[in-house]
Amino acid sequence: MDGRRLLISDVDGTLLGDDRALDIFHTWTQRHRDRLALVYNSGRFCESIMESVRTTRLPAPDALIGGVGTEIRLADGRVVKEWTQRFECWDAPGIRETLAGFNELELQPEVFQSDHKVSYFAYNASPELLRQIEARLEEVGLRTRIVYSSQRDLDVLPAAAGKGTASAFLAEFWEADPLNVCVSGDSGNDLAMFQHDFLGIVVANAHPELKELRGPHIFQATLACAAGVLQGLQHWFDWPEAPELA
Ligand code: GLC
Ligand code: MG
Repeated sequence: MDGRRLLISDVDGTLLGDDRALDIFHTWTQRHRDRLALVYNSGRFCESIMESVRTTRLPAPDALIGGVGTEIRLADGRVVKEWTQRFECWDAPGIRETLAGFNELELQPEVFQSDHKVSYFAYNASPELLRQIEARLEEVGLRTRIVYSSQRDLDVLPAAAGKGTASAFLAEFWEADPLNVCVSGDSGNDLAMFQHDFLGIVVANAHPELKELRGPHIFQATLACAAGVLQGLQHWFDWPEAPELA
């Protein structure tokens, strides 16, 4: 990773959500870009993240992880096929068919679906319902990972996919030491990023599923959105403060 530290961050509710904070984040990261590489890791597909990069103050990234860790794209637009190839035999239509009987699940619009990600709305799903869904998928022999976020979004992914394993893959690909990598997030689909050896940042506006996180590698920011991420970078890397945040 050419000596730079790495920030792998969720986008919606983490970097996006407070325009003033994002503006400060933009200025600060541009100032320190020689020592910080940036990766956006979102539930949205890479194309949609790039649209946000074009239309907001999100700084240009060094790579993107999209579709809840099912796709990885480098800054030059190259898709990292070594990642996606792992999911080639995955059976998205089979998942849909298997879960069709669950009335609590409403399929998200087609633009949010891919060969490696089947997503539903499941408002206030109980842990019991999530267990039943998992059990049903196992019963028919489908190897999947279930990710539930914001008391609303339910993603069904290949077992080896997800924001955490995709982050680990990219860190390894760049030979980055986990202790030089910060991850930041605000909701359930970010949890997997905190299950590796990275340095974690939870923004103050996070959902309960992340607010509960504790541990030597967890920093609970007191500021929201991009300001919280900056606060975390300063905490972990002991970097100069952004005076504008005060
Ligand atoms: C994004 C995706 C959606 C997914 C959610 C949670 O909003 O567009 O499909 O369910 O993230 O991962
Ligand atoms: Mg988010």
